[in-house]
Amino acid sequence: MFKLCINPSNKKGHINPELQGHFSEHLGRGIYEGLFVGENSDIKNENGMRSDVLEALKEIKVPVLRWPGGCFADEYHWKDGIGPKEGRKKMINTHWGGVVEDNSFGTHEFFELCKQLGCKTYVNGNVGSGTVQEMQEWVEYMTFEGVSPMADLRKSHGREEAWDVDFFGVGNENWGCGGNMPPEYYAGLYRRYQTYVRDYRPGKHINKVACGANADDYSWTEGVMSTCFKAPANVHGFMDGISLHYYTVPQNWEHKGSATDFDEKEWYQTLSKTLFMETLIKNHQAVMDRYDKEKKVGIIVDEWGTWYDVEPGTNPGFLYQQNTVRDALVAGINLNVFNKHCDRVIMANIAQMINVLQSVILTDKDKMVKTPTYHVFNMYKHHQDAELLESFIETKEIGLVDEYKVPNLTESVSLGKDGKVHATVTNLSASESYEIGLSLTDTEIKSIKGEIVGGEIHLHNTFEDPEKVTVKAFDDIKATGKSEAVLTIPASSVLHLEIEI
Ligand code: AHR
Repeated sequence: MFKLCINPSNKKGHINPELQGHFSEHLGRGIYEGLFVGENSDIKNENGMRSDVLEALKEIKVPVLRWPGGCFADEYHWKDGIGPKEGRKKMINTHWGGVVEDNSFGTHEFFELCKQLGCKTYVNGNVGSGTVQEMQEWVEYMTFEGVSPMADLRKSHGREEAWDVDFFGVGNENWGCGGNMPPEYYAGLYRRYQTYVRDYRPGKHINKVACGANADDYSWTEGVMSTCFKAPANVHGFMDGISLHYYTVPQNWEHKGSATDFDEKEWYQTLSKTLFMETLIKNHQAVMDRYDKEKKVGIIVDEWGTWYDVEPGTNPGFLYQQNTVRDALVAGINLNVFNKHCDRVIMANIAQMINVLQSVILTDKDKMVKTPTYHVFNMYKHHQDAELLESFIETKEIGLVDEYKVPNLTESVSLGKDGKVHATVTNLSASESYEIGLSLTDTEIKSIKGEIVGGEIHLHNTFEDPEKVTVKAFDDIKATGKSEAVLTIPASSVLHLEIEI
């Protein structure tokens, strides 16, 4: 029996809804087809946004969407994507598949999408190949209400009011596709560019996000923090967040591994690499703490998820991959880690929302399917805007080879806005179920409900069989005392417990 102890009276921090954020880039069939089909499409849509996909996304309460990239962001020139569609520039998307980008999805369409989703906006600006003026004008175009060339231009395109930009990324992966810069050089540019990301309206602060590290490149964090972090009288300083990108690549970047065809060794390898996220957060935080003890700057993990070899027969530049129970575990583990570090991690964005990498939805023309990852987000949505609770789970080490040993269980627990305790537990074993003894400190349990996503490790949903992996009710729970219960979590599963107290 493994103990899961929860102390409902010890709140450890606030879980921003944005920890369950999303990212969608002009890449493959993510934006075009996945989200946006255009007003004249045969696929049912509202102002060009496909209705089936939007309905499913609203269900999981998408809190924030990052756009337009990714690597695409540092080659994106926003003026190409405004104004009458027939006049918009057509170009080759050099990064992703060499296809024609017709710019029919641009700034106005992004804000329309976020309006329909009811989510916050995270716009990523271009430092790699764009000018300070271009970035300044984009911010002015989006957020300025008065008389100005850019506000007037926006109005001339049919949008009177300014939009809210909640987060603005000053470049993306500027250590790589965003300009191959050394940290000190980027940090200098960051200071300059961010100056012109102005808060044009009182009370409407744009959270500025500096480009952060590639995985365990701690010297990048050091370089950016040492140059950019200032906390003078200005409350917001130069930055509100610094990003972190970390993908779970089962094998290596040359041969990543298949999304659906893997053995148990690779299962544990994948989960062990996913757990590295926690080490990364701790270590980057340690660097940040040297400059920012008060945690004014948040870590924003704005790209995370699995990255496999593309599905056979698909465009290698489109990064289209299937999604199995293994991905459900990757999502559950990562989201638990983010919750546990909600004092420093203020946002995280899965890469990428639809049809690209670890997606929550896959589409094929007019068909769509919810992935196992989708169902995990649907269970975890109860953590949004909740208070993290003190919790502890007993574990043992499992796995087939020493290098990739993992704990059998992970957890995070919150007190939801509904007044209920929500516990999410992942079972990392490919084959073993575990008995868990749940106990709440000094708190009576009135009732417990469970729901679960899991099954055989390779299970996945297809367009022909879209319901193979879904959320199922879980009732293998027995009360053993006023504050105690026992349950058995099946192998390879993600469990959500809703505890009424
Ligand atoms: O998500 C795919 C790509 O991965 C992004 O464009 C880039 O930022 C990262 O390298």
